[in-house]
Amino acid sequence: MEYKYLLCEEKGALAVVTVNRPDKLNAINRDMFFELRDMFRDIAANDAVRVVILTGSGQKAFVAGADIAELARLTPTQARDLSRLGQDVMEGIARCPKPVIAAVNGWALGGGLELAMCCHFRIASSTARMGVPEVSLGLIPGYAGTQRLPRLVGLGQAMQMILTGEPVKADEALRIGLVNQIVEPDDLLPTCEKIAGQIASRGPVAVRFAAEAVSRGLDGTLEEGSWLEQTLFGLLWTTEDMKEGCGAFLEKRKPDFHGR
Ligand code: COA
Repeated sequence: MEYKYLLCEEKGALAVVTVNRPDKLNAINRDMFFELRDMFRDIAANDAVRVVILTGSGQKAFVAGADIAELARLTPTQARDLSRLGQDVMEGIARCPKPVIAAVNGWALGGGLELAMCCHFRIASSTARMGVPEVSLGLIPGYAGTQRLPRLVGLGQAMQMILTGEPVKADEALRIGLVNQIVEPDDLLPTCEKIAGQIASRGPVAVRFAAEAVSRGLDGTLEEGSWLEQTLFGLLWTTEDMKEGCGAFLEKRKPDFHGR
């Protein structure tokens, strides 16, 4: 598969996906959504990949938002269709069976922050700035930003960011829980790779079920989420990985997981 706007580098169990449109600060357009959809479908089906890092090319931006030149040309119906497409693609990333870590290497604005937010968690460079500036364009976030931001940082912080459109610096993003860690720019990918390595060394089926229990659980009630947890918990007893993991502990050796 040829991609115009995405790069993918596989390093063992890790896939590093880079949004690569540096002359426009990696702004997302419609074609890029189709590419992201295909890329994450391929990754989901690729047994060799256990963890994904998503980042932006260049020093300045993760993704500086939806492509405003493209937005400006849309009819209302086309805008709604683009919003639905973007939401679907981002939901697909959120449901990716392999954990996706956003390495936020600079500006993450509008659709760029929405893209970072659909990842399983975020690590930021000290140079990163994050925000949802849509109201300054007379718009609102259209790729589920109004829904994911309050779930991540709480109602008050999300309201302030969405209503003012003002971006936050990395330290503020850390304080409100939008990112998990801030590192120097040169340390961003190595740090994400280290965390990805930890995840990749765990039982792959367990990692997948854990992410599903957490994210699907948050969509429903505590009772529904707990029911899902017990169902997935029991299902793990059917896997070789569970027998290997517990057996390895009891035999005082490292587990050798195969994702089965
Ligand atoms: N859509 C389309 N093009 C974009 C873009 C976007 N969201 N963000 C940046 N670009 C383009 C610029 O138009 C410029 O293109 P040009 O060189 O052909 O003129 C190029 O990327 C570089 O951006 P520039 O604005 O010159 O960089 P800067 O360092 O001065 O400013 C930002 C960086 C991020 C502050 C600024 O680009 C910006 O505000 N972008 C829009 C952010 C936004 O509102 N996003 C939400 C969209 S819903």
